[in-house]
Amino acid sequence: MLKRDLALEMVRVTELAALSASAYVGLGDKDGGDKAAVDAMRYYLNKIDMAGTVIIGEGEKDEAPMLFNGEKLGTGKGPKVDIAVDPVEGTTLLALGQPNAIATIAIAESGSMLDPGSSYYMKKLVVSKAAKDVIDIRISTKENLERIAVALNKKINALTIFVLNKPRHEKLIQEIRETGARIIIHDHGDVWGALAAALPETDIDVLMGTGGTPEAIIAAAAIKSLDGGMQCMMDPKTEDEKQDLIQEGKDLSQVYSLNDLIKSDDAFFAATGITSSSFLQGIHFKPGNSATSQSIVMRSFSGTIRYINGIHDLDKKLNKIGFELPRR
Ligand code: FBP
Repeated sequence: MLKRDLALEMVRVTELAALSASAYVGLGDKDGGDKAAVDAMRYYLNKIDMAGTVIIGEGEKDEAPMLFNGEKLGTGKGPKVDIAVDPVEGTTLLALGQPNAIATIAIAESGSMLDPGSSYYMKKLVVSKAAKDVIDIRISTKENLERIAVALNKKINALTIFVLNKPRHEKLIQEIRETGARIIIHDHGDVWGALAAALPETDIDVLMGTGGTPEAIIAAAAIKSLDGGMQCMMDPKTEDEKQDLIQEGKDLSQVYSLNDLIKSDDAFFAATGITSSSFLQGIHFKPGNSATSQSIVMRSFSGTIRYINGIHDLDKKLNKIGFELPRR
């Protein structure tokens, strides 16, 4: 079992990444913001007593700055953990100063995270606990929504579905509309969408559609903690991705359950808002050299979910850890 104190350490990691990246809000510089968050995450992760290995780094898909797959992080002294990172989830949202950009990380016991090989995209279906036993990603959109509506004790036209705004989702959106269910369409950010679907108190009931594979594995740590339902299938976007997966022996008809994405029951998820969303405030710089943050952290072993409001005296904090925020 991993030490529960790691939860607070993970929040420190996402807070520092969000504080760093937030200097780039609206500047139109996706890579600058991403790099700021990557540098901050790497810096702070290396201070934590753990022997971490990055299983899911982000960046390869769009050649962005990244924490490398296989990279070793931590002091090497503590427990062995698998790490999945998305230093800025929603780089375009950050670059345009739009809502829902977050810094996020998941860790789990060593050897327990799915190594997705060359899979960059997965089809995803996420719901809250009440509907977790009725979903089946292989059946039609209509049938899934009918089952989910019954499980949530709602009429189908009272359901709200999160879908990414991508040309690949034209048919899916049409199918959802035909059932009468409502849709919230976002350009980016399906980790946020997955969380919203699994948290019962939000106005989103379901996440459907294809998004990044790293985002699926990171979200899985949160969905496990929330005891929600999640199923995925590898859904290559290009012929090259498909051929690579076939060569690696991946079965494209395999359904990945939460336990396939992260085997261990001991996983942590943390996220800090960079720009504000409906359940996380973004970073606000205050008079003097201070800033506020809001984070969510969860541990699947205990199922505890914490919202953490941070007030940071940046001079003191950064001096102490020897880190400089970019553009300050
Ligand atoms: P980035 O932060 O890497 O831009 O990811 C944002 C995102 O919208 C994810 O939430 C989603 O899983 C993925 O991109 C979808 O990828 P694509 O935009 O290539 O369809």
